Amino acid sequence: MTESMVGPAAGVGAGAGVRGGPGVAELRALVAAAGAAPSLHNAQPWRFRPTGDGPGVLVFADPARAVPLADPDGRGMLLSVGAALFNLRVAAAQLGLPVEELDLMPGPLGVVGPDEPVAVVRFGPRGVPYELAELAEEIGRRHSSREPFANRDVPEAVIGELVAAAADEDTVLDVLEEAGARRVLALTAEAEARIAGDAARRAETGSWLRTEAAQDGIPERAIGPQDHEARVPVRDFAGHGPAHTQRFEALPQVATIATRGDTAADWLRAGQAMERVWLVATARGLRISVLHQAVELPDTRWRLRDPEGGIGTVQVVLRVGYGPPGAATPRRDVDDLLRDPAGER
Ligand SMILES: Cc1cc2nc3c(=O)[nH]c(=O)nc-3n(C[C@H](O)[C@H](O)[C@H](O)COP(=O)(O)O)c2cc1C
Repeated sequence: MTESMVGPAAGVGAGAGVRGGPGVAELRALVAAAGAAPSLHNAQPWRFRPTGDGPGVLVFADPARAVPLADPDGRGMLLSVGAALFNLRVAAAQLGLPVEELDLMPGPLGVVGPDEPVAVVRFGPRGVPYELAELAEEIGRRHSSREPFANRDVPEAVIGELVAAAADEDTVLDVLEEAGARRVLALTAEAEARIAGDAARRAETGSWLRTEAAQDGIPERAIGPQDHEARVPVRDFAGHGPAHTQRFEALPQVATIATRGDTAADWLRAGQAMERVWLVATARGLRISVLHQAVELPDTRWRLRDPEGGIGTVQVVLRVGYGPPGAATPRRDVDDLLRDPAGER
């Protein structure tokens, strides 16, 4: 990697890059933050490249890291990339790099390929750190927590903050009342049972389980127990079934994130919202785990829609509460995330 990859001007230092844009060290910091995002099965299906025509970053999905059976249309992949994009924006805020332009799906409609960016981030003139920077510390603290949570309600004021975080990303977060939570948990349980009953899907999930050091996938230590009472349909990554159970919270607190439309750009939006909500929640001492099973099957996804006529398509289901922080999971090297896919062919 050379300085000239950061932008057209050569000879800039490791700090400020072309026209005040990111230098090499800063680009690496942006990409490291992005790479810490949550992703479906920790596949980390993303790549990054500096824009060639001014300070900025091109964000790519990496179809080589798709999870085809769980995610045939790439929804989960773009949710994951959206989460990475949000982290990149937080890191940019910390560096005082204002996002002047953020283009989602700028290429030909619906194309997600190794050479077609799914987002373009352009930075304006460097200034001082700005608002989103306050979430920077949470990026490394955020983990999926699949453990039982305490029977303790999330205060209304915190719920308000989570709703606002989602709204800032043009999505709608709904923290469900008891009946709504039970309905969504039942749909998730139904989807989980169907997924668990599908040998090919079970094999695909199992292929992301890691028992030794790796840079991706889900280490065994990050997998929690199954719910003894079967109230929380946690994904059965290891195929343990009910062998390893504990008592979970009596009434799980469930939040959904919905988008108005259901396009690839909406999936990126929902991913950014998920990560923004997750980082704000982390700052407030909350834990989160994703319950994605019902989103993965078209009919249960349809039935996740708010029966009272709420907007759009539910893209994300989160279990929210107070409990253990969850284990850190591995990440790919920044060099790997910055490698030019075209150079590999
Ligand atoms: C689109 C998407 C779907 C996910 N689905 C689930 C799920 O159904 N169950 C689960 O426990 N975790 C799920 N996760 C969480 C990932 O497994 C997790 O982010 C990844 O393993 C990295 O771990 P971390 O969140 O602790 O950094 C999902 C994450 C994303 C972005």
